[in-house]
Amino acid sequence: MTKSGTTESFEVCFLPAGLHAVVPGGTPLRDAARLLGVEIESLCGGRASCGKCLVRVLESEAGEDGLHSQAAHVSELSDAERRARAAGRLGDQERFSCQACVEGELVIYVPEASRVGRPIVRKRAGERECALAPAIRKYFVEIELATVGESRGDWDRLQEELCVRFGLDRNLAVDPLALRTLAEALRGGRGRLTVTVWQGREAIRFEPGFSERVLGLAVDLGTTTLGALLCDLQSGQVVAQASAHNPQIRWGEDIMNRIASAKPPGQLAAMQQAVAEAIGELARDATLAIDAKPDDVVEVVVVANTVMHHILLGLDVHSLGVVPFSPTLSRSLDVKARDLGIPILPSANVHLLPIEAGFVGADNVAAMLAAAPHVSEELTLLIDIGTNGELVLGNRDRLLSASCPTGPALEGANIRFGMRAARGAIEKIRVDPATHEVRFRTIGVPRWSDRQPPEEIGARGLCGSAVLEAVAELVRAGLIDSTGRLYSELPCRRLRQGTDGMWEFVIAWAEQTVIGEDITLTQADVRAIQLAKAALYAGSRLLLERFGAEQPDRVVLAGAFGSVIDLERALAIGLFPDCGLDNVTAVGNAAGDGARMALLNVTSRQEAELLARRVEYLELSTARGFNDAFVAATQLPHAEDRFPSTETRWSPKAAAG
Ligand code: FES
Repeated sequence: MTKSGTTESFEVCFLPAGLHAVVPGGTPLRDAARLLGVEIESLCGGRASCGKCLVRVLESEAGEDGLHSQAAHVSELSDAERRARAAGRLGDQERFSCQACVEGELVIYVPEASRVGRPIVRKRAGERECALAPAIRKYFVEIELATVGESRGDWDRLQEELCVRFGLDRNLAVDPLALRTLAEALRGGRGRLTVTVWQGREAIRFEPGFSERVLGLAVDLGTTTLGALLCDLQSGQVVAQASAHNPQIRWGEDIMNRIASAKPPGQLAAMQQAVAEAIGELARDATLAIDAKPDDVVEVVVVANTVMHHILLGLDVHSLGVVPFSPTLSRSLDVKARDLGIPILPSANVHLLPIEAGFVGADNVAAMLAAAPHVSEELTLLIDIGTNGELVLGNRDRLLSASCPTGPALEGANIRFGMRAARGAIEKIRVDPATHEVRFRTIGVPRWSDRQPPEEIGARGLCGSAVLEAVAELVRAGLIDSTGRLYSELPCRRLRQGTDGMWEFVIAWAEQTVIGEDITLTQADVRAIQLAKAALYAGSRLLLERFGAEQPDRVVLAGAFGSVIDLERALAIGLFPDCGLDNVTAVGNAAGDGARMALLNVTSRQEAELLARRVEYLELSTARGFNDAFVAATQLPHAEDRFPSTETRWSPKAAAG
């Protein structure tokens, strides 16, 4: 009913959706919007205390779409709105949609910040947008403190209020540990408190008074490193990041060693505890950076390969090391942080994305979520390069995946002067095709080595991308032939036999290093790169064959290595099939991005579940034709396949010409 007491109905248009509804006079704007499916934020449930439901009344003579819209067509300011306007929190044309009621024709603009499910700002080209729809929501509630004669308990009354005011289930569950804090929160807020609810199903936190901040953690749990993105679940923004080495490294560098190490009694539990504590440390570091605390983290999403996933859950990993590599669990799982020993809010849930097959785990599912080959008509080859190379080939019709035994060479391991990407690591290398002289750049130093005094360069070793660049540069300079052999007969002062008799090429002279000896690329290093790239290429080729395609339409490189390598040089040595350099992109840590998406949007979790079930896994070790494809791919760039995008600039002939 309007202030004039009539029950007349009026047309209201909501922008930018452009949706119209005819509603009875006296209907709150927020309810009118809801009728049309336009969801407006409402943290306080319409108590005029959160200010999240702000809308703008557009005023004009004719009005949009022929509507005569003006400020007078809305009910008078409520007391709360007057206070907000006096405090400068509510502009002249603005109203709280939970307070302002329809009293005439209206055109209402719902700003981006007030919309539920608003898109997240793209942070980088190639990053997939996702709507903001987290599993966590906060509700501000006010209930009477218990009085004499009240027979219901605090939780019963709160449950009732959450049902009536916010439409939550009358039988909403409550975490038993969280419940222990309810009485204190109620007393501390004198009946006003903020309730954190997970999936609309369970209350997991009670805070006295009004509390707005909601934080979640997206964790990429790798064999070697852990990365975490701390996200504000209200805005969708990443507010802090943290990373660390996986403490399980002391139980072995790769997956097979971890499986073997987990066998003796007590070891699996020790490994589980180590990684749970490491996730807790990431939460501590990230929250510290924004003046929050680990208890403020109310949900975690973890993506990991199958072995890391099982160890985090304390599941037996023995079966993952033997054919048919069957996991104990492949579907997604929600488990309480306290049950895993992760020191964040004990009642928080940890969501683990589903596993695909064999070693292809939730990290690959997350990478698919982020790179989204399944939503495109284009045939996409997604290559996630880590200690294992994981491949996905597909489009919206079909998805294939495979895991390649690339070995650690592409990460700089098992290379004589290889090292992780850290200060002092050479990351860029250029070899002059005419003089065979070398210049290089180390991580964190923008100047090339030929622009610095030798003693200031401080090189320590070669990171994976540098090893790959060195091979490409030496091929172009005519110092390595197509079989990968260093041309020992060429007159070149940098080409020599090492003390062990193996041929090597000097990248940095001892005076340019801090290790007091020359940094070289050995014949064995070249072989290691050939084997790694051959595994990736042969895997890609077999997936293409299985798909019935000659080439992909685009190649997406994911993983830390994929984001730092020089794409042209990588293609020049045949790391992936040639589909034109313009169609190759590096997307960085796609698995971490996928974890972030799953944290911010529950629909992404269902999408991940479908992807994991949909993708067809190809076991390369037993696939017919893999060995032949592998041998052909050990050549630089390949025994048969052509690479038109690079051969004019990257063949030894081109360099000589
Ligand atoms: S819903 Fe909180 S102020 Fe309107």
